[in-house]
Amino acid sequence: MRQKYVVGNWKLNGSLPGNEALLQAVLAGVSPKPGCHLAVCVPAPYLAQVRGLLEGTPVAWGGQDVSRFEKGAYTGDVSGAMLREFGATYSIVGHSERRTVFGDTDAVVAEKYAAARKAGLVPIFCVGESLAEREQGVTETVLARQLDAVLEKSGPAALDGGIVAYEPVWAIGTGRTATAAQAQQAHAYLRGRVATKDAAVAARLPILYGGSVKGANAAELFAMPDVDGGLIGGASLVAEDFLAIWRAAVAAA
Ligand code: 13P
Repeated sequence: MRQKYVVGNWKLNGSLPGNEALLQAVLAGVSPKPGCHLAVCVPAPYLAQVRGLLEGTPVAWGGQDVSRFEKGAYTGDVSGAMLREFGATYSIVGHSERRTVFGDTDAVVAEKYAAARKAGLVPIFCVGESLAEREQGVTETVLARQLDAVLEKSGPAALDGGIVAYEPVWAIGTGRTATAAQAQQAHAYLRGRVATKDAAVAARLPILYGGSVKGANAAELFAMPDVDGGLIGGASLVAEDFLAIWRAAVAAA
């Protein structure tokens, strides 16, 4: 039985007082459950603050991106080792906003995945099709291309200890969630593709759904056999909403 994950992605949001209030409210409402993991992926400048608030609690933390380089003349980048120094467990890699706004290609995402693993982080590797791609009927082609970039660079064993997040671009921040059946279909496709390389790794691989997950739709999504939790944007910024999603994951575990 795979474990369940609820991971908040704060994106470019936060402030010192706001983060503290949010995390205190989350901590006040969270009841830990074995086999269920709760985390927040925060802007890098807040890592020290978040570590101070979350160390020793049931809530883990991570970065939202990681450099593909270890160190050197790469202005603006944050390395995996730096994230680890601040106690990060996770780093998101290949989020669609990094791909579309910042130009991360499949090859760059594969390098970032490898860099995250090398640093000892759990990469949360995002894949997902745009609305145009879904309407053209090429969802699986896109998912295969994105997944294969990491499989080919790092091999299926590198997915062991990693996490995949299916985030259809048309569902991110739009209020338009994939139906549970759409999510299940995509997740099953991804797991099946990993299984062609390594069935045991595929069976263990957590695959999270992201895109307008709310307290009201989380239970239905998390009940799907291949949906192992959620990567949560907007709802992770509101303690009650985030906790409602957490409770849905706990109930589904
Ligand atoms: P929303 O939950 O705001 O749709 O964002 C999803 C997401 O991009 C998480 O990484």
